[in-house]
Amino acid sequence: MIKLHGKYFKPFISAKEIDDTLQRLVDEIAEDVGDEIPVFIGILNGSFMLTSDFVKKYPKTCEVTFIKLASYEGLKSSEDIQRLIGLTQDLTGRTVIILEDIIDTGKTLHEVHRIFKNEKVKSLKIATLFYKPEAYKKDFKLHYVGIEIPNKFIVGYGLDYDGLGRDLPEVYQIKETQHMTNLVLFGPPGAGKGTQAEFLKEKYNLVHISTGDVFRYNIKNETALGTLAKSFMDKGQLVPDQVTIDMLNAEVEKNADANGFIFDGFPRTNAQAEALDKLMDSKDSQINAMIALEVDDEVLVKRLLERGKTSGRKDDADETVIRNRIKVYYNETAILKDYYAAQNKYFGVDGVGSIEDITVRLSTVIENL
Ligand code: IMP
Ligand code: MG
Repeated sequence: MIKLHGKYFKPFISAKEIDDTLQRLVDEIAEDVGDEIPVFIGILNGSFMLTSDFVKKYPKTCEVTFIKLASYEGLKSSEDIQRLIGLTQDLTGRTVIILEDIIDTGKTLHEVHRIFKNEKVKSLKIATLFYKPEAYKKDFKLHYVGIEIPNKFIVGYGLDYDGLGRDLPEVYQIKETQHMTNLVLFGPPGAGKGTQAEFLKEKYNLVHISTGDVFRYNIKNETALGTLAKSFMDKGQLVPDQVTIDMLNAEVEKNADANGFIFDGFPRTNAQAEALDKLMDSKDSQINAMIALEVDDEVLVKRLLERGKTSGRKDDADETVIRNRIKVYYNETAILKDYYAAQNKYFGVDGVGSIEDITVRLSTVIENL
């Protein structure tokens, strides 16, 4: 992973793959051009590296020149294309092949065609190393296409992000989500999970996703997913993991700018943990840690009975019920503890002490991730 102007980019296309693609383009073009001496025109700045590597591979005599157009600003293709250096030689009767690093909306290509409108070339063909079909809005023919890529910003091999990254020998793609800290928070009933989640949320600007809350929200608002979930619950069946994951996905997307998430109440099984990993992966992110508050059973029982006296929660009043809830918790988390421990992501935190003390312990874990 690399960072340019504060944004993260992940490896996308290797130098080897670029080299193989160039060779393929060279072979196709050399075959089509035959014995003519073609003029290759690189479009600066982006195609300087590609043009150089391309003509070194070209097996026969050729000419090389450049025109310089400017269109991009930061991460977005801008409206007007500036012609900084135009054609500097007569191309009448010549076989011309444009070498583009990337074709995105096609605005630059439109300008290229405008430049050639009054030139009496023998033929004008377009070759591009990268092509974003989803972004392309013109219908000029692309004669030679290297690699089709999704409509996401890339850097490297001539392509820049605000001036940086052109020198990289390989290509990187912008990360869907920038750097995040994603936690799965566990704690037996009475461990103070809610209190600590509130605090972590504030301190690290994380979004707290409590599965219970998400369910209640979707059902209350009769969202498509809520209605679907309810149809299973009404039949007394478990809501399929995919429905829950889809709800979590919606929450994650709603908060795409967050520094990260605290997942609470999910996952509960290995399959769910895997599904959550897949979800985070699809956002170019990951779960960084499972943090479990550890509190001795007897302390929990005492705390909950104490809370039951004032909270009015029925399940906090009966010692047998409390002990059973704690047992269920340990049965469930044991599996997940193994799952995350296997990836070195399990962190048990002593949950006995003052709220502030526990907070300090949690912060230490997070800041060392
Ligand atoms: P178009 O005019 O929208 O087709 O964009 C073409 C030009 O925009 C290219 O020559 C690049 O200079 C720039 N460009 C398009 N997509 C990207 C990208 O993903 N990264 C960096 N530059 C890009
Ligand atoms: Mg370009």
